[in-house]
Amino acid sequence: MTVLRLVGVPPTAPRIVRAPDGEWRALDGDQSVGRARAVQRPDRRWFVALDSQRADAYEALLHAIAEDLQQDLYMTVDESDHELLQRCRQLGCTVNRREDEYLVPTDADVTGLTDAALPAGLGHVSAAEADEDQLRALDEVLREDVPGANGWVNDPRDFREYTFDARHFDPMTYLVAVDEATGGYAGLVRVWNDPGNPRLGLIGVVAAHRRRGVARALLATAFRALHDRGFGQVAAEVDVTNAASTELLRRLGARRTGGSVELIRGWRPA
Ligand SMILES: CC(C)(COP(=O)(O)OP(=O)(O)OC[C@H]1O[C@@H](n2cnc3c(N)ncnc32)[C@H](O)[C@@H]1OP(=O)(O)O)[C@@H](O)C(=O)NCCC(=O)NCCS
Repeated sequence: MTVLRLVGVPPTAPRIVRAPDGEWRALDGDQSVGRARAVQRPDRRWFVALDSQRADAYEALLHAIAEDLQQDLYMTVDESDHELLQRCRQLGCTVNRREDEYLVPTDADVTGLTDAALPAGLGHVSAAEADEDQLRALDEVLREDVPGANGWVNDPRDFREYTFDARHFDPMTYLVAVDEATGGYAGLVRVWNDPGNPRLGLIGVVAAHRRRGVARALLATAFRALHDRGFGQVAAEVDVTNAASTELLRRLGARRTGGSVELIRGWRPA
């Protein structure tokens, strides 16, 4: 049996119920007029996804989530959705950061990655053969330098399940650069193989090995595998302040296709 718990909302707003499956629902009488979910990521940020055509339901849902969680709330909105952005601003959300979306060609004749190679002393292995503890630690180190992802702490089981999920894991496009002398990990590229839609999940190199061509060499190998299979381009997102990554992709011939806005609604007690 489904048991719903009532939470407090302003008297004129639609009624908000909290379902045991974690969803917040907006009701007008018996009629559902909106729903929302909030998920806490491993960097402890709460991300909210709201679905409603009614402004008052939107407001009531956001209000209820904030009251229940008493946390800053984050939302990602397409930059072209001006109506939603305006609505969110009216509800106290401000812009936290922005991302550009790109399509990056995989053809080495276009990217210029024909001769890209790892510097002497570095080799690479597929994530499928990597040491899982080292890979997880590398992921956390790299995320510290990715805008909007710092403070990320992986749960070992969740990391394993997500990484090797057969729906997107590709051993040919998730590669780790290894220092051959020490066995230390120097960087990684991971292109998730979302069916028919390869997406660059992360390209990252540890600080001590940057500006030596490691990123270009890893991308060259992963892109070659994709190109050989007929994938002509890879989707990627980069924070607009991330000058190194933007320049890296720009030089590969990346084409901007759009963007997204990350909003934050700071928690403040009523
Ligand atoms: C972006 C990043 C992966 C680049 O790795 P890298 O191994 O240093 O890159 P490469 O040496 O292969 O550089 C290739 C080109 O990228 C550009 N580039 C790299 N770092 C740059 C920087 N700090 N400023 C400007 N351009 C830069 C340059 O065009 C460079 O070519 P050049 O050295 O001939 O000028 C690395 O800086 C990094 O790990 N950053 C933190 C993680 C991150 O933000 N990842 C991207 C998330 S989308």
